[in-house]
Amino acid sequence: LYTTYRMFDNGYYSPEAAGIMGAADMLSPFYSPLLPFNFNVNIPGLGVKHVSPAIYILIFPLAFRMTCYYYRKAYYRAIFADPLACAVGEPGANSRMNYSGERKFPFVLLNLHRYAFYAAAVFIVLLGYDTYKAFTFTIPDKGFGVSVGSLIFLINWVLLTAYTFGCHSWRHLIGGKVDCYSCSALSRTRYGLWQKVSYLNNRHALYAWCSMISVGLTDVYVNLVSRGIITDFRLF
Ligand code: FES
Repeated sequence: LYTTYRMFDNGYYSPEAAGIMGAADMLSPFYSPLLPFNFNVNIPGLGVKHVSPAIYILIFPLAFRMTCYYYRKAYYRAIFADPLACAVGEPGANSRMNYSGERKFPFVLLNLHRYAFYAAAVFIVLLGYDTYKAFTFTIPDKGFGVSVGSLIFLINWVLLTAYTFGCHSWRHLIGGKVDCYSCSALSRTRYGLWQKVSYLNNRHALYAWCSMISVGLTDVYVNLVSRGIITDFRLF
């Protein structure tokens, strides 16, 4: 609900853009990268509505999460109850439905997860740049500095990176389709990387939740600072 509200808000995504002095150079992750597509559309029955560039940006992280193997398990079991678990009967109205996995429309589209991963990896680079910028100040003192906002951006980026690179698709890209891990220098390197990805993959659900909350809270922080409701306290 909050993300949807912010998608249409199209404002208060950067203290600098809002004319706030003394805050770190922060750009809300919901609005990164800044796009110039900003227009109104006339929707029959609803009138003229503003279309924020955030709509285009949020498609990619949303597609990544909606097709994530962990979230799929969570919403199949917790929301659809279809199936609750292996070899467990489906309750109520669902008992008349045949569980078809992801072989039919619309759930067959979930198999596009690998491509959503590619887009998410690009966003990690973009958000990494935003995190670097959050350690700089523009007005009135230019240059390097650390504020509460800088640390929030760093924590958020670390959590998002841990979630993204703990992805099952990434783990398969790194270590899949290898018959022998010890047969060449390349396969030994892949094995080492695969072990590190497996460490993150073991904690994928934890990072999924932590990063989903942290990305929202990061936007809340930028929103409040940009509105002048709170001050981005500079540590040094
Ligand atoms: Fe969760 Fe890929 S499996 S992000």
